[in-house]
Amino acid sequence: MDIIRVEGGHTLEGSVHVSGAKNSALKLMAATLLAPGKTTLTNVPNISDVHVMGKVLKRMGATIEVADEHTLVIDTSQVDSWEAPYELVAKMRASTAVMGPLLGRFGKAKIAMPGGCNLGARKIDMHILGLEALGVSFDTDHGYIYADAADGLVGSSVTLEFASVGATENLIMAAVRAKGETVIDNAAREPEIVDLATMLNKMGARITGAGTPVVTIQGVDELHPVEHRVVGDRIEAGTFLVAGALMAGEAGVEVTGFNPMHLGMVLRKMEQMGIKTERIEDGLRVHRVERIEPVDIQTLPFPGFPTDMQAQVMVLSALADGGSIITENIFENRFMFASELSRMGAHIRIEDHHAIIRGVEGFSGAQVVSPDLRGGAALVLAGLTAEGVTEVSAIHHIYRGYERFVEKLTSLGAVVEAASVPDPSDD
Ligand code: EPU
Repeated sequence: MDIIRVEGGHTLEGSVHVSGAKNSALKLMAATLLAPGKTTLTNVPNISDVHVMGKVLKRMGATIEVADEHTLVIDTSQVDSWEAPYELVAKMRASTAVMGPLLGRFGKAKIAMPGGCNLGARKIDMHILGLEALGVSFDTDHGYIYADAADGLVGSSVTLEFASVGATENLIMAAVRAKGETVIDNAAREPEIVDLATMLNKMGARITGAGTPVVTIQGVDELHPVEHRVVGDRIEAGTFLVAGALMAGEAGVEVTGFNPMHLGMVLRKMEQMGIKTERIEDGLRVHRVERIEPVDIQTLPFPGFPTDMQAQVMVLSALADGGSIITENIFENRFMFASELSRMGAHIRIEDHHAIIRGVEGFSGAQVVSPDLRGGAALVLAGLTAEGVTEVSAIHHIYRGYERFVEKLTSLGAVVEAASVPDPSDD
């Protein structure tokens, strides 16, 4: 059984600490390939995606010591392979983040071609076009991409067609070892990119402009291992803020371990919905909202509204006093959870990449299936407010990105149990 069972209607109170950001930790782990030796990463979330990335690195010859639950010492000195095999890339598309570092270190990479996933086709054409500009040639054969910088990586100017997070990261990680200067225009600006550039600069890279649309990288001859703390997970924080907005008691719910500036647009939209938050040390306190105002949201690259918060906020809007519109601009297939939410009584009509939502008084507990990571978490949030019991199945999706999700909710007073918690290291 792979189920989270939620008994609705229990008030939440107290404080919850978020883990390190999944989408930062995975790229920082990949980046250790660039610095032969032992890099120590702290505040690493204990989630199944991190274990998959660990397996990718180990396959290449790295060793990983788990110094404590959230500290990994990754030794990449003996890495002698530049292949990310199909069975691991198929489990986690983010395995493709090793392409840039492998090119940076060895001038070669062999990566299984990622197929589609629950969020849609998710191509990597922009990674490839950008790397080609740096002198990499590509070949595909038997489901693998062969990348080769036979004459070495050479700095260049690259304008991304779209501010892709993954393409920006792969390009940065290759360009740090290219000859000369690389300028990435229309770069993604997510806080996780700033975290990556910060660690690379500590390693000896020369990157400026991370967090702005123009990132400039002066290539260097070598990078050295460092110690680095993973930035707090803004999306996990946002998820608990929504839980608090739905069910907090008088004192509110405190969410700590993250930088509220990383949630700017989410907080602005929550405010429009009538949700009050206040700054506390290392995070925010959120109060329950009696009457949720309808809202108009479109997902966009940072600093726009994050696609990774779309499902959780749709739960709020589905209980709003009126009609809301949520437009998904990043992924073509990220509304799958909406039909599950409808099974709990929500009124949501999907038209292309718009969700038209008519608020209802409340949800009723039901059996629902988690379609993906964020959609699964959103269904658990809906279960917190629903009348009766909600059973969310396929929760392995949730454990890809949320550490101890059930335990953290329980510590706030939710009545939630996992029928069988997948061991993150099994995945
Ligand atoms: N895209 C292309 N070609 C490319 C690259 C991207 O068409 O070469 C398209 C994608 O198909 C997608 C859109 O551009 O429709 C955005 O893709 P992006 O590259 O920005 O996203 P990503 O790097 O694949 C990361 C996160 C996602 C998060 C997005 C957007 C990781 C491991 N994943 O994905 O996180 O939603 O950025 O912020 O960092 C999640 O945590 O639940 C999650 C899906």
